[in-house]
Amino acid sequence: MSEPVYHPGLEGVVAGETAISTIAGGTGLGYRGYAIEDLAREASFEEVAYLILHGELPATDALKDFCRRLAAAAPLQSEVLQFIRSVPRSTPIMDFMRTAASALAHFDSEAADTSSEAQLRKAERLFAQLPTVLAAQRRIQQGKEPVAPDPQKSFAANMLWMLRREDPSPQLEQAMDVSLTLYAEHEFNASTFTARVITSTLSDLHSSVAGAIGALKGPLHGGANERVMEVLQEVGSAENAEPWIRQALAEKRRIMGFGHRVYKEGDPRARFLKPLCQELAAETGHEEMENMAEVIERIVVEEKGLPPNLDWPSARLYHYMGLDVAVYTPLFVVSRVTGWAAHVIEQMDNNRLIRPRSRYIGPEPRAWVPLADRPCST
Ligand code: SDX
Repeated sequence: MSEPVYHPGLEGVVAGETAISTIAGGTGLGYRGYAIEDLAREASFEEVAYLILHGELPATDALKDFCRRLAAAAPLQSEVLQFIRSVPRSTPIMDFMRTAASALAHFDSEAADTSSEAQLRKAERLFAQLPTVLAAQRRIQQGKEPVAPDPQKSFAANMLWMLRREDPSPQLEQAMDVSLTLYAEHEFNASTFTARVITSTLSDLHSSVAGAIGALKGPLHGGANERVMEVLQEVGSAENAEPWIRQALAEKRRIMGFGHRVYKEGDPRARFLKPLCQELAAETGHEEMENMAEVIERIVVEEKGLPPNLDWPSARLYHYMGLDVAVYTPLFVVSRVTGWAAHVIEQMDNNRLIRPRSRYIGPEPRAWVPLADRPCST
C-alpha cells in the first residue's frame, strides 16, 4: 500500500461520492442536477427540500402530500414544549438547537430504525419540527408565549409567523424562502461531512444531525453569518467602512463572510442574493448598511482577492427582515437539515466506515519509567 498523503484540513481531497449536489469545479452549484439560480428563482423552498430529500422535483400531488406531512409533524408535543421551557433562557440558540435535535429523537418512535424508508420519514419530521422548536425557544427567551405553526402558511411564512406572530409581507416571505433554498445543501462542507462520519459507524439520524449542528456552530462555518452582523454593527457607518476594513486587514483579522475553501472565484449564492439584499434594503431604509457593505466588499476583494461567501449578504438580508442576530445560524440549521438528512440516507445506503489515517508527530519510542523514578514536576 503506497504511503498515505497528508492534506491539511482534507483540502482538495475527494472523500466520497454523492448524487445530491455539486460545486462543479468550484464555480457553480447544483442540487440533484438543477442550477441553484433556477431553484432560487423558480421553486418554493418546499419543492427544493423535497428535491434534496427525494431526488426529484415533486409533481403537484406529491408536493401537496409532502406539505401535508410537514404540517402534521410541525406542532410540538407538550413534553417537547416542557423540555424547551426547562432550558435556561440564557442558552445560546445554536447550543439549544443541538440539544433539541437530540431531544426530539426521544419522542420519535422510529429513532433507532436506520432503514432508508424510516430515515426519510424521520428526516421529514425533523425538518418540520426544527423551525417550531427554534421559534418557541426564541419567544420563550423573550418572555413571550410560543406561536403554533399555521398549516395554511408556507414553510418560509410559518418561520416568520412563529417568530413574530405577524403575517409576513410577500417580500419578506420570498426573501426567507430564497435564503432557505440557498442554505440548504453544499456537498461535503464540514457539518455535512460530520453527519456522514457519524452515519458511517451505523449510528442514527438524530445523532448525525446533532453532530452536524455542533460543527455548523463554529464561526469558520455557519456561525459566520452572526459574526458578519457584529462586523457591520462595529463599523457603524459607510464613512467608517474604509478606515475600519483597512485597519482590520492591517491587523490580519479574519473578515467574516469572506473567503471559501472551494469557491475561489466567488460564491454563486452570494452573487444571487446581493440584488435581493439591495432591493430589501431600499424598501426598509437600510441603504446606509448596503453602502457600508459595498465599500468593505470592494476593499477585501482588492486587497485580499477574497470574494464574499453566502454569509456576507444573508446576514444583511436577515437584518433587513428585522430578525435577531441570535436566530441567523439557527435558520441555517432549519434549512441545512435537508442536506444533512439526504447525505445521512445516501451514506447509509452505500456505507463504508469513514476512517482516515493520521501523520504521527509525537515523541520517538522510549523506555518505560516507573512512577518512583519519574522526576518531580517543578
Ligand atoms: C460556510 O465548505 C462549505 O461549503 C461551507 C459553506 C456551506 O454552505 O456549507 O459554504 C458555509 O461555512 C461559508 C464560510 C463561512 N466562514 C467565514 O466567512 C469565516 C471567514 N472565512 C475564513 O475563515 C476562510 O475563508 C474559510 C474558513 C471559509 C476558508 O478558509 P481556508 O480554505 O481554510 O483558507 P485559509 O484559512 O487557509 O486561508 C488562506 C489564506 C490565509 O492567508 P495566509 O495566512 O496564507 O496569508 O487566506 C486568508 C488566510 O489568512 N483568509 C482570510 C480569510 N479567509 C482566508 N483572511 C481574512 N479574512 C478571511 N475571511
